[in-house]
Amino acid sequence: MDRATSPFETQHKLLLLETLYDAGLSLGSLPSEDALVEDVLGRAVGVLDASRGYLATFGEGGARKAEARVGFPRRQPEGVVAEDEFLRDVMRSPSAVSRFLRTAVSAAVGVAIRAGGRTVGALVLADKEQRRGGRLSFDEDAARFLTSLAGLSGMAIENRRHLERLTRERERLEEENRRLLDETGRSAAGRLFIGDSPAARRVLDLVGRVANSRISVLLTGESGTGKELVARMIHARSERAEKPFVPINCAALPEPLLESELFGIERGVATGVEPRLGKFEVASGGTLFLDEIGDMPLSLQAKLLRVLQEREIERVGGRRRLPIDVRVLAATHARLPERISRGEFREDLYYRLRVVEIPLPPLRERREDIPKLVRHFLERFAARDGREVPHVDRDAFASLLAHDYPGNIRELENVLEGAAALSQAGVIHREDLQWLPTLGAGGGKVALDGDSAPANLRDLEELHVQRVLKLAGGNKSRAARLLGISRRTLYRKKYLGR
Ligand SMILES: Nc1ncnc2c1ncn2[C@@H]1O[C@H](COP(=O)(O)OP(=O)(O)O)[C@@H](O)[C@H]1O
Ligand SMILES: [Mg+2]
Repeated sequence: MDRATSPFETQHKLLLLETLYDAGLSLGSLPSEDALVEDVLGRAVGVLDASRGYLATFGEGGARKAEARVGFPRRQPEGVVAEDEFLRDVMRSPSAVSRFLRTAVSAAVGVAIRAGGRTVGALVLADKEQRRGGRLSFDEDAARFLTSLAGLSGMAIENRRHLERLTRERERLEEENRRLLDETGRSAAGRLFIGDSPAARRVLDLVGRVANSRISVLLTGESGTGKELVARMIHARSERAEKPFVPINCAALPEPLLESELFGIERGVATGVEPRLGKFEVASGGTLFLDEIGDMPLSLQAKLLRVLQEREIERVGGRRRLPIDVRVLAATHARLPERISRGEFREDLYYRLRVVEIPLPPLRERREDIPKLVRHFLERFAARDGREVPHVDRDAFASLLAHDYPGNIRELENVLEGAAALSQAGVIHREDLQWLPTLGAGGGKVALDGDSAPANLRDLEELHVQRVLKLAGGNKSRAARLLGISRRTLYRKKYLGR
C-alpha cells in the first residue's frame, strides 16, 4: 500500500490542484489583506486536514499587518517577526512549531510567503486530522501544495500593496494639487483662453500665427481683457516655452528703478546697492513681457529702443555691452497713437514693438462668450475649493449677460468668485452678484451720480428704490429681487405709489 497510489490519494492530489487553480483565480479580487489571509488559511487548513493553522503577514520593518488563525487561542502566538532564519526554524520540525505557537503539536508544516524578494508572511499548519486512508503527518504533497499556495498569496499580496501605494500616492498628489490651486488660484486649465465668439477666434488665430517666431507683438485692450494671458500663451506656444517668461510692469516703478530692473545694475554704482541681474538677462532665451509699455518714461523709451535695435544691453553703472537673446512682447491699455501725437510716446519705438498688433476686444463687445467664461470660472473656483459647481439662476444669469464690465474678464472673474463664496445650497442668485450694479433687461448700468446724489440716507434710499423700480419696468416683485429685499419690505418702505 505504501508504494502504490490509492484512489484516495489520487483524488486528494486532484483536490489540491483544484484548490490551487481556484486560489489563483480568486485571491487577486479579495477586498483586503485581512480577507486574503483568512481565505488562504481556510483553504490550506481545509484541504490538508489540519486542525490548527496560523497565517500572519508583515509590513515594512516586520510589523504584523494581517493575521488569521484556526484552532489557536487569540493571545498566541506572540512575537512573530519576518525573519527568514526564524521561519526556516519554524518549518524544520514540529518542536520548533510548538515553541513558535507556544503549544504542543504532534505534526507541523510551514512555509514563508515571499513577495518582491522579501518575506512578507508565514503560514503554519499543525496537528493533522486522520482521515480514512490518510496519514498522521504532513507529506511531500502537502509541503509542495503549501509552497505553491504561498507563491500565489505572495503575488496577490504584492499586487494589493502596490495598488495601495498607488492609491495613497494618487491621494497625495490630489492633495498637493488642491494646495497648489489654493496658493495660485490657477490651474493649468486656468491658463486656457476661453471664448469662441468671432472676436475671440480672431485673437486665437493671430496667436497661432505669431507664436512660433521671434517678432515683437503689441497687445492692446482695456484692463482685464486678457493681454497678459495672451502673452503667456504666445510664449507657451513658441520654441522658447521651456525658457523663462518674465513680466515687468512699466507703470509700477519710478524711472531709475525701472531702468535697473530692466537692464540690471553693476557693483559699486552707489553704496548699499547690490549688483543685480536685469529682467532682460533673467529672460535670456525666453520672453520678456513689457506690461503697460505706454507708461514708460520717454528717456527709458530711448534706451529700450536702442537695446531692441542692437540686441545688446548695458547694465546700470556698467561699461560692457552684453548680447541678449530675448523675445519682447508688450501690452498697453493706452491708445498709443494718441500718446504719440501728444509727444508722450516715441513713434519709432511704437513701430518696433508693434510688428504685429493683437487687439483684445472688451468683454461687452463679445457677450456671447460670457456663458462659457462663467462656467469656466465657476468650475475653477469649485475645483479649488473642493465644492460642487454652483448653478446660476435665471435672474442672476440675465444680470451677468447684461452688465457692461468696465473691468472686463477680470471683473467677471471677481464677481463670480464673490458669488461662489456667497451662494448657498449650490445656487447663485441675483443677490449673490454683490457689487454688480443693478441692471435692466435691456442692459446698461445704474449708478448713482456722485454729484446729484442726496446726502440724506433716507432720500438716497428712496431715489435708489425709484430708479430700480423704473429699471424693473414697474414690476414690484422684480424690483424687490433686484434690491435684494422681499416684496413685503418693499411695500413697508412706503416709497411705492408716491
Ligand atoms: N479669454 C479668457 N479666458 C479665460 N480667462 C481669461 C481670458 N482672458 C482673461 N482671462 C482672465 O482674466 C484675468 C485678467 O486677464 P489679464 O491677462 O491679466 O488681463 P490684462 O493683462 O489685459 O489686464 C486673468 O485672471 C485671466 O486669466
Ligand atoms: Mg494686465
